[in-house]
Amino acid sequence: MSEPRTPDFTQSDAYKALSQRALDNKRPSRAQPLGAIAAARFPDATNRQAMAEGIRAQDELSMGQFGNVFFKPVSIAGINLKLEPVQPSIGTVVHGIDLARDLQDEAVVRFIRELWLERRVLMFRGQSHLSHQDMYDFAEKFGAVGLPYGEPGHEPNSPDLNNSTKVPGFPNMLVLPSDEKVPSAASAWHADATWQKRPPMGSVLMCREAPVIGGDTCFCDCYAMWEGLPLEVKKRVEHLTAIHEGAFGHQMDGVVPSAEHPVARTHPETGRTTLYVQQGFVRRFAEVHSVPPDEEARLLLTLKAQEGRPEYTCRMKWESGSVAMWDNRAVLHAASADFWPHRRVMERLTILDRDESRRTPYYRPNA
Ligand code: SIN
Repeated sequence: MSEPRTPDFTQSDAYKALSQRALDNKRPSRAQPLGAIAAARFPDATNRQAMAEGIRAQDELSMGQFGNVFFKPVSIAGINLKLEPVQPSIGTVVHGIDLARDLQDEAVVRFIRELWLERRVLMFRGQSHLSHQDMYDFAEKFGAVGLPYGEPGHEPNSPDLNNSTKVPGFPNMLVLPSDEKVPSAASAWHADATWQKRPPMGSVLMCREAPVIGGDTCFCDCYAMWEGLPLEVKKRVEHLTAIHEGAFGHQMDGVVPSAEHPVARTHPETGRTTLYVQQGFVRRFAEVHSVPPDEEARLLLTLKAQEGRPEYTCRMKWESGSVAMWDNRAVLHAASADFWPHRRVMERLTILDRDESRRTPYYRPNA
């Protein structure tokens, strides 16, 4: 098996253009959380280099393990797994599995899929040996591997760092790089590509290079977000639809993509209701509902205030070689943009539901 290699993202035109701030020795912009956290950690730095050196000096950490971990032991097809819950309602670290070797048996795939539906975010450690093909084969066990943003038809071609970094032979793979010169992280709560009409069911994220500290990915339980809404708000928004708009980096031929989706969404496999609204892409309710502007602002604030409540969330800590797989229909996620000046390099695949009738979000109250 050939060594997996992430392409050198520092050679792209986008990287070179975005590096200008670093070349000018300017501190990272505080308009982005990466810059805000760096300023909070090292407020007195007069320039970027001093700031990076100061933070690196704070972060001289050694690798080690201590403490006890609670887990559930499970044996499937002769494989002994340890399931470590990360938070009561979502997130499990699955120990004892090699994703390149152990999914030949259908029973193992079925078990992982059921666990994924229940816990909605799974993490597998120690998978650095996975080649890009192994990652692809793993994702394909659970659905059809999509393009970087899900279904074909809208392939972003904006001059964006992520879009300009390609893995040769794997057009489906999205590389999400960040380094000292060009920091970047998807830090707003979102589910992947909900600006698509039929957004991807799931995502698989491999950490090729983990920062020594920070850069966790946080996940938020969308069942709890719905359950936690006041009854009168649920009644008011239950049959509304909202407009999800992509960001600059999602433009294709200069057009920002958008899609209309239900605010309350039925999970097509569990039948449970999720709140399908998030700060990342949801801009407004569809005009057809004629929600007055004041009420719209108030409602969106109430809905978005459900994101990120500590009880609804878990944080997944990355090590190089950790792989996470999540259900975009039932959790939001946000990268914690707190790791500058360290490098963080991630590779993502999206997974589409093989049952195409389940791809378009819908709401059926009594499903
Ligand atoms: C993503 O938004 O899909 C990536 C999240 C991350 O980089 O942690």
